[in-house]
Amino acid sequence: MENNVRPESMARITDFDLANAFIESQVKAVREQVGDKKVLLALSGGVDSSVVAALLIKAIGKQLVCVHVNHGLMRKDESENVVKIFGEELDANLIYVDATDRFLNLLDGVSDPESKRKIIGKEFIEVFADEARKLEGVEFLAQGTIYPDILESIKAAEGKKAVKSHHNVGGLPEDLKFELVEPIKLLFKDEVRVVGEALGLPHAMVYRQPFPGPGLGVRCLGAITRDRLAALREADAILRDEFDKCGLSEKVWQYFVVVPDIKSVGVKDESRYEGWPAIIRAVNTKDAMTATIEEIPYAVLHKITDRITKEVEGINRVLMDLTPKPVGTIEWE
Ligand code: XMP
Repeated sequence: MENNVRPESMARITDFDLANAFIESQVKAVREQVGDKKVLLALSGGVDSSVVAALLIKAIGKQLVCVHVNHGLMRKDESENVVKIFGEELDANLIYVDATDRFLNLLDGVSDPESKRKIIGKEFIEVFADEARKLEGVEFLAQGTIYPDILESIKAAEGKKAVKSHHNVGGLPEDLKFELVEPIKLLFKDEVRVVGEALGLPHAMVYRQPFPGPGLGVRCLGAITRDRLAALREADAILRDEFDKCGLSEKVWQYFVVVPDIKSVGVKDESRYEGWPAIIRAVNTKDAMTATIEEIPYAVLHKITDRITKEVEGINRVLMDLTPKPVGTIEWE
């Protein structure tokens, strides 16, 4: 399809002037495409869907219906921030669905990583489709497809074998037929970020580190339990907070905590204290195909260890993963 090919003449969007020109042209194009019809968008809070949401709010206001599905595997405060920024500050037409129980019940006892991914991806579609069926007059579906996704699908069509099934969402069920609206499909990630800032989205949202679709589900290793998931969420929030405070969040490409399903013996308040380890992973990469380990100053590691072991119920050790990719993948599952 020729409109899936980035024209050679298209200038790289590197500043606000270029971003504003792009925004203006897309606002016009979207208005022409959708007229007075409604457009549906699955808004995860990731960079791409957030930029599409902000762009469409500017173009068509309340004709855009955003659905945020909280699968219960989001990081701390993430869903709350989506509601705050889009529902309150940008006054979007936002439907918030707390589907935590639906997802966690389905995942109960499931330990195989690919089965977990499949369950999460399939359930996501079902929750989203349930919401879509309740709405009337929706003819369009907006998607945060970006140019690397298009290039990736070309590679996939050539039959390259994947290590993991990263593609989070399959197609919608047969009864839901929408025309696609993909306003940023010819942009590279760095351009999406400039456009996002030009649209007034917060820096932290636009420069958010990548977060896998299955969320904390692939970092709470093996069969997910609510208590271990809660411990992971708190430990991960402490890591992010400390990285923010010392500037590492601007420097490290992806950093997170993993909590495996093993316990070790520890001691707390002079008593035996069995707990899980929190494993820190902090990597740098250009394209996620290979990754190197970021060296974290010991003082920062000591602070994080001290806070996690004191503040997080159920964690009694903090470890650091020093494995590059290859041989370790970035995520543990
Ligand atoms: P791996 O673990 O394969 O990860 O080295 C490479 C990058 O992809 C992210 N990742 C995923 N993203 N759905 C996603 O949207 C997934 O199922 C998934 N698995 C891994 C990972 O966080 C890293 O940035």
